[in-house]
Amino acid sequence: MNNNTDKIIIFDTTLRDGEQSPGATLNIDEKLAIAKQLARLGVDVIEAGFAFASPGDFEAVSKIAQIVGTETGPIICSLARAKHEDIKRAAAAIKDAAKGRIHTFIATSDIHLEYKLKKTRAEVLAIAEEMVAYAKSFTNDVEFSPEDAGRSDPEFLYEVLERVIAAGATTVNIPDTVGYTTPSEFGGIIKGIKANVPNIDRAIISVHGHNDLGLAVANFLEAVKNGARQLECTINGIGERAGNAALEEIVMALHVRRQYFNPFLGRDVDSEASLTNIDTRQIYKTSRLVSNLTGMLVQPNKAIVGANAFAHESGIHQDGVLKNKLTYEIMDAQLIGLNDNQIVLGKHSGRNAFRTRLKELGYEVSEADLNKAFVRFKDVADKKKEITDWDLEALLNDEIQQA
Ligand code: KIV
Ligand code: ZN
Repeated sequence: MNNNTDKIIIFDTTLRDGEQSPGATLNIDEKLAIAKQLARLGVDVIEAGFAFASPGDFEAVSKIAQIVGTETGPIICSLARAKHEDIKRAAAAIKDAAKGRIHTFIATSDIHLEYKLKKTRAEVLAIAEEMVAYAKSFTNDVEFSPEDAGRSDPEFLYEVLERVIAAGATTVNIPDTVGYTTPSEFGGIIKGIKANVPNIDRAIISVHGHNDLGLAVANFLEAVKNGARQLECTINGIGERAGNAALEEIVMALHVRRQYFNPFLGRDVDSEASLTNIDTRQIYKTSRLVSNLTGMLVQPNKAIVGANAFAHESGIHQDGVLKNKLTYEIMDAQLIGLNDNQIVLGKHSGRNAFRTRLKELGYEVSEADLNKAFVRFKDVADKKKEITDWDLEALLNDEIQQA
């Protein structure tokens, strides 16, 4: 591997860091359903969990590795602290994946060393090197993260990265663990790494960012401009505290503004080719699934997937859009899998609107199945104000054949 790839690798950590959101625990079947949808979305890597954390986490990572980690599917990854027992457990959990990754980490900032780890820099350096080599004895695909890199001394960071790459790390991930850096600072960290880590071309540079100051996505875009080629993100931006960089925002920013980013990836400036492997039409559906299963609501004004993201309220805007959509829209709602003229379904909706929406979602149903599904729909509509596409799909039973 080298970090000169002209595609951006999308590493989804909804099932690991995303699940660390307070109150967002998922059971194994729910994790599997999300992993399957992430594969349909086209993510390159799924961080399926932290295998050592609990028997449930181990089982979830193992199941996802077996079922979703096929030859043509995504890489399945487990997180592991830089400890033998964690790495061994991660290796066992990913063993059935066609492509398995171990992601090991240890903090490198002085504040974490002094108060959390109670270790010297020399000790951390030795552990990082030894644990990457240990992980490498299980799989070729090893990622290393210097936790709290955003607040680490750059010279120490360079030394750690050089040593873990020499020990076999194929991806080095730079986390802004506490969402402290600003875009130009974060871009500068990546630039410094490229310039000062002699063997950096032997690894992919990845970034991981939290949203404490609302800057995670902006930080990632600067990181891409400076050489990052893997982005770690979550659906709807869920995660610890204020969350992680949102997958849908970063992917759509790279898509809508691809001509701006092309030169930074060594591409022809006019190239229309996508910068990621994501099927953007699966974005809305994935967002709904994650929101429904985690119980974490999406704020209405959330970029890309919020209920108002494509709505026009003011008369001036509505008038402009009716004349030409480009006046107030920078992307087509269909790009993220939304229908252009959304019919909002609710308890007053009739059979025809229901049938039409199912058809738009790709379901052809017989008259008998339609009748059964319609009864169930009315039942759900009595309890909910608005019926989303995901609700519709959830209520379709086995009798209904997908077109
Ligand atoms: O935020 C963080 O530093 C992490 C690491 C484990 C990558 O989640
Ligand atoms: Zn994190």
